Amino acid sequence: MVAMATKIRLDDETAAVLARFNEGLERTKEQDRRVKTVAKAERFKDEAAKKVKSLESGDGSGENRSEAQEQYRIAAEQWQTMKTRLDAGVHRIAVAVNASGKPAQFHLRLRERSSSAERERLIGLALAGRGNVRRGREVFQNVEKSLCLKCHRIGEKGERIGPDLTGVGSRFSKIHLIESILEPSRTIAPSYETRVIVLKSGRVLTGVKAAETALTLTLADSEGKKRVVQKSEIEETRNQSKSTMPDGVEKRLTAREFVDLIGFLLSEKKN
Ligand code: HEC
Repeated sequence: MVAMATKIRLDDETAAVLARFNEGLERTKEQDRRVKTVAKAERFKDEAAKKVKSLESGDGSGENRSEAQEQYRIAAEQWQTMKTRLDAGVHRIAVAVNASGKPAQFHLRLRERSSSAERERLIGLALAGRGNVRRGREVFQNVEKSLCLKCHRIGEKGERIGPDLTGVGSRFSKIHLIESILEPSRTIAPSYETRVIVLKSGRVLTGVKAAETALTLTLADSEGKKRVVQKSEIEETRNQSKSTMPDGVEKRLTAREFVDLIGFLLSEKKN
């Protein structure tokens, strides 16, 4: 038997590309290590904060307390410094574009990894799958199941508590649609902010403005229920950064139904 070794000769250009790729890989690994170190420092800081809290509420001696406070101060400072350094680091994003001659388009959204594993799974499925438009429409129109029509309108159906979703497929990218449903408070549609209204009686109402006259304000809550308030009864109005659209509507759906719903919404183009 004769052993054969195949050697590939790389031309200079390919070799240079490969070298850059390897360098990028190294940087990514380094970045990963730094992210882990910062996460560790953050946990450390949180532990220290917990300790301070428990000492403050409990009957710990003053000495213990100030020691814990000092430890917290140091931990918080260390974490902050590391985090600032990390944020200032190099981040690279590689995009591969097909040489099809057609104009290329891509969306880039940076988000904190706040979502749960289940959400990540749903995002992955919905991004990968196309969804069945007809079944998706059924999901959307089934008020008891998805609740969507309680607050949104498409064409002639539905309420106007949230934005009208007619033609939504022309306005939104897939990932934006997915996130609008999974995490409503991440971005709140302009003029649909949640208002917190304190009445002179002391009662507090929250919801989105559904209608307004010279004398009254109609507020719709996160269940789609409307309430008319006399403006003369209002003591104070504030905005809140949490959306009136409830979290977890996706929990009422199977993964299949969620993917179909996204497919349907994307197919809703302006004509
Ligand atoms: C209780 C009312 C309510 C329900 C139920 C509800 N939404 Fe919403 N939705 C809102 C409100 C209010 C907003 C605007 C505030 C925001 O952006 O979070 C909104 C925002 C959105 C947006 C972003 C629109 C834009 O123009 O930015 C999408 C997409 C959306 N909802 C889809 C859905 C779908 C699909 C369902 C059903 C699975 C649903 N919503 C259920 C109230 C609701």
